Amino acid sequence: MSRLSILEFPDRRLRRVAKPVDQVTETERQLATDMLETMYAARGIGLAATQVNEGIRLVVMDLSESRDEPRVFINPEIVDRNGAQTCEEGCLSVPGIYAEVERAESVRVKALGLDGEPFELDAEGLLAVCIQHEIDHLDGKVFVDYLSPLKRRMVEKRLRKQQRAEKV
Ligand code: NI
Repeated sequence: MSRLSILEFPDRRLRRVAKPVDQVTETERQLATDMLETMYAARGIGLAATQVNEGIRLVVMDLSESRDEPRVFINPEIVDRNGAQTCEEGCLSVPGIYAEVERAESVRVKALGLDGEPFELDAEGLLAVCIQHEIDHLDGKVFVDYLSPLKRRMVEKRLRKQQRAEKV
């Protein structure tokens, strides 16, 4: 197992659109394991392959209090969505920034598991938010894209300042 480094907004590599996985192999299983380790170490609840500079459609999540219920979605796709909810979101690629985003209240997601088998899941509340947030990453989107241009510029400025401070 190894910990991966997480790209930070406004890194252009977060804008790439990830490619579907043709076949789930040991490579994807190893990546999922490393991403889970990385996510747990960073105290996150979700991580998309895009965030660790891997261009494939794979996301990991764990919303449990006990941090022992990992979920892996390969080629996730939202096939149905209903309602609306507003939730305060954060992101491991946008450290220290939290903002309210409106998303669907419930979604039905179709994906492959680590065994390569397809499954479907009905999610609502925070799980639905997390799934939508992570699939956005695979499409090159970051949650701050939903903010007003002014707010987004403020976030960008603050992060660049943080990143400079970390370098010295
Ligand atoms: Ni994120």
